[in-house]
Amino acid sequence: MISYSIYVIDDEDTIREGITMALEADYKIKTFSTAEKAIGTIEENPPDLILLDIGLPGMSGIEALRKIRNLHPDVLVIMVTAYEDIGTVISAMKLGACDYIVKPIHMEGLEVTIRNALERIRLRKEVQILQEKYLKENLPCFIGESNEIQDMMGFVGMVAKSPDTPILILGETGTGKELIASAIHYRSPNFQGPFITVNCAAIPKDLIESELFGYGKGAFSGASTLGKKGLIEEAAHGTLFLDEVGDLSLEAQAKLLRFLEAGEFYRVGETKKIHIQTRVISATNKNLDGLIEKGQFRKDLYFRLGVIKVQVPSLNDRRDDIIPLAKHFLMEFNKKFGKNFTAISPQAEGTLVAYKWIGNVRELKNLIERAVLTGKGPDLTVKDLGIEDVSKNGMSISREDGFSPIPPTGINLPSIQESLEKFYIQEALRIAGGNESKAAMLLNLNHHTFRYRKRKLQIE
Ligand SMILES: Nc1ncnc2c1ncn2[C@@H]1O[C@H](COP(=O)(O)OP(=O)(O)OP(=O)(O)O)[C@@H](O)[C@H]1O
Ligand SMILES: [Mg+2]
Repeated sequence: MISYSIYVIDDEDTIREGITMALEADYKIKTFSTAEKAIGTIEENPPDLILLDIGLPGMSGIEALRKIRNLHPDVLVIMVTAYEDIGTVISAMKLGACDYIVKPIHMEGLEVTIRNALERIRLRKEVQILQEKYLKENLPCFIGESNEIQDMMGFVGMVAKSPDTPILILGETGTGKELIASAIHYRSPNFQGPFITVNCAAIPKDLIESELFGYGKGAFSGASTLGKKGLIEEAAHGTLFLDEVGDLSLEAQAKLLRFLEAGEFYRVGETKKIHIQTRVISATNKNLDGLIEKGQFRKDLYFRLGVIKVQVPSLNDRRDDIIPLAKHFLMEFNKKFGKNFTAISPQAEGTLVAYKWIGNVRELKNLIERAVLTGKGPDLTVKDLGIEDVSKNGMSISREDGFSPIPPTGINLPSIQESLEKFYIQEALRIAGGNESKAAMLLNLNHHTFRYRKRKLQIE
């Protein structure tokens, strides 16, 4: 059995002694006569529960509660108060105290209050264990050692904790947006609920509304006589993942916005409001700013979906991940195809790192799949990769600093600056498929500056 630890902070000797006597058989008890004396110990060695007198000399119980909540928000605090302090009790509860008891203390009542409070710890631990088990069973392996991915996953872990804040995942095709959406689901308090994926681009525009919101009996010709639940209802107490959200029709966008704002909606052809709690995660590899400019995506919906935004870096911007990913896929397909690859040759590693991954992780995964399927092993070679000339794919491997030394005749810096600028603007436009706002974003320029420079350098 777990033995819980309890700290008692009270300036009255008789109370400290009385509580110790009543509880020490079942709990580890430590007592303090002032909050000042307790805080240091709490900081270093937090107990499971604290019995905190409100009317302490020196630092008051309320002040101490604030400090404790800052130091260790998980520690349970029960306030101990004289009857007339009830206003302060209310403030204490607002500050996060979990319960209170009134002096004179009845030991039996105190024991019940403590048992109830500790039950919360037990439940919390149970949920944690369950969640870890779920994570192990359900979460596909997410590989990423680069600082960029580590930072992003740290942020994702944090935002996952709130059960209904909408999250918008942005990033180029194949960067792992769908994988991240499922990671958020399994790390959220809704992890036992359903994870429903809707590919907004794959559902015909005139069906998307009834797919998402469901329909009532006879809502339209051909509608089932019973009506049908929509995917939002299916995702109740779980996560609704709207993939390719940029493809939603304007009508569906309006209805989705209403749902996000009020948590309620109507099935198509029905007048009964339906309330649902679910988290909406959306993703797109499209430039939503561009769609907003063209009037194809609602700005208010964009803000609502993107309360939290997660930007997934492209694989070319986190080259440290290429080899760990390649090794992971090598092992995965090795097993799948019953091959005996054990390693990637140094030359093949060099090729993989230098290659320009337009299709990001998906392209790498497909390439390794093909290489494992057709190669012999035990080493994965450059030949297996089927990439003959990396330089042809547009990635130049430059000297360490990337620049040439200044010759004795000197250089023309303004002209170099101009060509550099021209090169990068053209390159950004190419990567962005001609989309100016995305190209500007790639160069960290605002749209106006981008346009101005583009015109000045006469770039088409
Ligand atoms: N970090 C990663 N670790 C392991 N596998 C990954 C990782 N990132 C992506 N993958 C794999 O790469 C493939 C593409 O990922 P995913 O479908 O999540 O990309 P996406 O960003 O949703 O792309 P699109 O915009 O085209 O829909 C999937 O098979 C996925 O499992
Ligand atoms: Mg996807």
